[in-house]
Amino acid sequence: MTAPSSKAIRPPEPPRIGVRIAGTGHAVPETRLTNEDLSRTIDTTHEWIVQRTGIHERRVCNPAKGESARSLCNAALRDALADARLDATDLDLILIASVSGESRVPSVACRVAADLGATSAGAMDVIAACSGFVYGLNIGHELIRGGSYRNVAVIGCDVMSSIIDPLDRRTVILFGDAAGAAVLRATDDMSKGILAQSLHADGSRWHDLYLPYIDRDLPEGSNWQEGPPGCLRMNGREVYKFAVKTFSELISETLEKTGLKADDVDLFIAHQSNARILESARERFGIPEEKMYVNIDRYGNSSAGSVPLCLSELRDQGRVADGDIVMFVAFGAGLTWASSLWRV
Ligand code: COA
Repeated sequence: MTAPSSKAIRPPEPPRIGVRIAGTGHAVPETRLTNEDLSRTIDTTHEWIVQRTGIHERRVCNPAKGESARSLCNAALRDALADARLDATDLDLILIASVSGESRVPSVACRVAADLGATSAGAMDVIAACSGFVYGLNIGHELIRGGSYRNVAVIGCDVMSSIIDPLDRRTVILFGDAAGAAVLRATDDMSKGILAQSLHADGSRWHDLYLPYIDRDLPEGSNWQEGPPGCLRMNGREVYKFAVKTFSELISETLEKTGLKADDVDLFIAHQSNARILESARERFGIPEEKMYVNIDRYGNSSAGSVPLCLSELRDQGRVADGDIVMFVAFGAGLTWASSLWRV
């Protein structure tokens, strides 16, 4: 038997395709939970929360009103499709970054695809906690640049109120609920798309931020006295140290890949984990305030929802111009961390 000629199996030329962010949208629940509200149910104060985190209030879903991860994703994606002037049937793929959908099987993405009538789209969830949207952005971008997909929706959404113990003052003060969506489209303009990106994970540190349901989910030496099943547990001090180090390293590493300097970046869109963490990265690189968006005061940390919520608000405010250099950075449970540097 003769081997196939190398000519017969030569791969196709790599396609020359740019990727643009054609539309964005976001959705948050109606109900505001202020620090004052929290100080009536747990031992805390508005001053303590603002000083340690920069958070004044967060939004929380009211399941009785039908608010859920799915309803927020539907609203955010509808908004993003309208902004991109596309129909749901134009989508080739829906990626939803979430750790708090109504069910694990089916994925939220499948339910959202059905709700919106995205009948030509594949659909799946991406589990990378607070880094999930940036993971999804990088995956969606590469699928388009590879040439097989043209329109990919990436949504980040978390309903943290459904996985938080409302009496745990270490976590309930931090988190909120939100969704943001971006529709990515292929374009002939090769200058648009990702200039550099990274995906990272260190599973050996899983026990710094985790969501236990049954005994096997608990780290050695831990028990159910520390918190009920189905509620997020966090080692705040360790996560804080990790985040400060990671944000700086992510920014440096991503810039180095392109030869760009922090000054060359028009906008930094960072996961809203804690205002002090954002501030330390801003000071380290001498980034002016107006270049690093902060909305944690109004929404808290909405996990996978936070980065696309920032992006959508910035676009609504006309602060993302054609050709701008935009850096997305995020970190979260896993532990995971990721970056995505775009010319938009
Ligand atoms: N209100 C008042 N006091 C509180 C409190 C609250 N909500 N939560 C904790 N405290 C108390 C602690 O019990 C502790 O008291 P003690 O000194 O008597 O033991 C004291 O405040 C300091 O606690 P500590 O946990 O060291 O506070 P901190 O300065 O590290 O701030 C966080 C806590 C959670 C704000 C901070 O660790 C943080 O932001 N970590 C990163 C979290 C994060 O980003 N998670 C998401 C990752 S995607």
